[in-house]
Amino acid sequence: MNDNRIVEQIKSFFEPSSVAVVGASKHVDKAGHVIFKNFVENKRLGLFKGDLYPINPREESILGYKCFPSIKSLPVNEIELVVIVVPAAFVPQVMQDAKEKCSKAAIIISSGFSEVGNRELENEVRRIAFEGNIRVLGPNCLGVYDPVSGVDTLFLPITKTLISGEEVIATPRPKEGKIAIVTQSGAFGVAALDYLAGRQLGISKFVSFGNRIDLDESDLLNYFLHDKRTEVILMYIESVRSGNKFIETAKNVTRIKPVIALKTGKTKAGAKAALSHTASIAGLDEVYNAAFFQAGIIRAQNMNEFFNMGKALSMQPPARGKNICIITDAGGPGIMVADECELKGLKIESISEDGLRKLEVLRESGQIPKFASLSNPIDLTGSVTSDMIAKVTEIVYHDKKVDGIVLLGLHHVPGLQEDYVDRIALITSSREKPIIACDIGETEMALYVRSKFEKFGIPAYASPEDAACAMYALCYYGEYLNNLNRCK
Ligand code: COA
Repeated sequence: MNDNRIVEQIKSFFEPSSVAVVGASKHVDKAGHVIFKNFVENKRLGLFKGDLYPINPREESILGYKCFPSIKSLPVNEIELVVIVVPAAFVPQVMQDAKEKCSKAAIIISSGFSEVGNRELENEVRRIAFEGNIRVLGPNCLGVYDPVSGVDTLFLPITKTLISGEEVIATPRPKEGKIAIVTQSGAFGVAALDYLAGRQLGISKFVSFGNRIDLDESDLLNYFLHDKRTEVILMYIESVRSGNKFIETAKNVTRIKPVIALKTGKTKAGAKAALSHTASIAGLDEVYNAAFFQAGIIRAQNMNEFFNMGKALSMQPPARGKNICIITDAGGPGIMVADECELKGLKIESISEDGLRKLEVLRESGQIPKFASLSNPIDLTGSVTSDMIAKVTEIVYHDKKVDGIVLLGLHHVPGLQEDYVDRIALITSSREKPIIACDIGETEMALYVRSKFEKFGIPAYASPEDAACAMYALCYYGEYLNNLNRCK
């Protein structure tokens, strides 16, 4: 099918003019209640602007909205998006009704299809969707969350009440940002939302596609290529439905936006689990490595890498080369970054002769410690001050031999004040090469410094390994783009 047509069709999931929630419920502990309430709340906040209808044969009204026994009984001719939260056996009938109301999109939250061997039921739903030209997400999925349009089909309540009576945030919804989350696993997707919200990182859109009887990872990649709010795509997959389609689509996307993939089911045990989770055939891991490489997708090996890379690519430009300069006030952590960078194939070479001369002038004139080490890593030692770190960063940032900087400003030393962050942000504001910050620690000052960096768009990490991993992603993507340009 024409790519542009699919992109248009997928818009019905994120910006529908009308939504029916089938299985909306008054019972607060039911999925259908949470989903319907999300829409009601977002309508009240002025985010969701479409018409909203609860469908439940047992109720007169839910949360102040008149309830209808079925989609067919709605007093309108068309319903753009249908969210289905009823047991699997009822889904075909609901889809038939949606077909009669000319629905364009359906999100099937219900489990109980091919993932438990119920292929016939799944095929029946697929057939009805195809006949009715209804695009489907799911079944066995969470659907979508869009912080701007207010479409939120996540059945995970935002807050929960502890046994003590205290209300706590349970599944936060991240603010608006540049990262799109595309996930086959709903549970992993929700964990991702919690993680990102906790780290004050925003998302453009979230989509969970489960058993993908219709729309798959390639269709969604294609959609996010065209989505103006998305700058980086983070994708969790257990398998790819069509290898060729995926590689071709991903190639188109990665020349414009970076894609990071977390592919699970690497081992025999993992592959078996994927089969019963989303009915996925995980396939040979080496084949995936080769496909990702060919398509310019950056593969994260674990959750930590996934988010570290995503954060870096959403904030900083890709690196033009692989020569990384480490500026530090702490010898040990500086070596740790150097080790990790080199293990990942990056280079830790000296800066240019000209740059070195400028640093020597600083050292000889006492503007940085006499005992500072000027080889890479540049170690300003525990006698560092904000002024020293800023002066050195200025020289290194403009050094032609340097492709990226990892800056370790461990806040514990007496002479370093948090004002250095403002100065680094100013020096690097041209975004001509990437900079990554690292401050180790989990208490107030470390959290404050890292969040201050990120407010300026400089990703900050709590460990040398995480910082190196982030820089690796920027170099990997930069090298991929360079190679593409060379082949033109
Ligand atoms: N049309 C409209 N409403 C219907 C209906 C139909 N055809 N059939 C049932 N309903 C109503 C029910 O009466 C009920 O409303 P009530 O609370 O007022 O009684 C509501 O819809 C829900 O039906 P119920 O039978 O109570 O199901 P449930 O809420 O316990 O579970 C699912 C429904 C979809 C959540 C459940 O079947 C399921 O699949 N759970 C797993 C979901 C999951 O994990 N998905 C993957 C995420 S990654």
